[in-house]
Amino acid sequence: MTRVAVFPGSFDPMTNAHLDVARRASGLFDQLVIGVLNNPKKQPLFDIDERVALIRTCVADLGAHVTVDAFDGLTVDFARRHGAGFIVRGLRAVSDFEAELQMALTNRKLAPEIDTTFLMTALEYGYVSSSLAKEVAQFGGDVTAMLPGPVATALRERITPGPRV
Ligand code: PNS
Repeated sequence: MTRVAVFPGSFDPMTNAHLDVARRASGLFDQLVIGVLNNPKKQPLFDIDERVALIRTCVADLGAHVTVDAFDGLTVDFARRHGAGFIVRGLRAVSDFEAELQMALTNRKLAPEIDTTFLMTALEYGYVSSSLAKEVAQFGGDVTAMLPGPVATALRERITPGPRV
């Protein structure tokens, strides 16, 4: 039996916490499809093609069974298109759990055949989020501990630090 999982998210941009979860999931599933949500209601810093390309660079060493694809609409429809029986989500802290539980139960209602699996990020990335990294970069702070190298470079190039007062 081939175990296929999708790992959906906004990934604007991918952080070390995301990459850690992708790495752990890549060891658990035969195929892992990282799904990048193209949400027309949001104004991301990186457009969908940039986010997909950055993630592809970051996961290149995880193996050919890890792929990256953009999607819009429901995560469960994306999972079904890929024949996935699992959705992977990362948990950094207890505070993530409530929203994640609601999402997992919604997805189960929509697609009872698909299970959500939660993976804990490494302790050192427990504080990392895409929005925090963008804020730190905005004010000229060092984001190298939060982001994979290519993402940190892309973020520095994208953001011109504002004044430090
Ligand atoms: O990285 P994020 O922003 O925490 O990821 C959230 C995401 C993309 C997983 C979630 O918003 C999602 O699944 N969106 C697709 C729409 C959907 O399926 N909604 C119903 C389930 S909550």
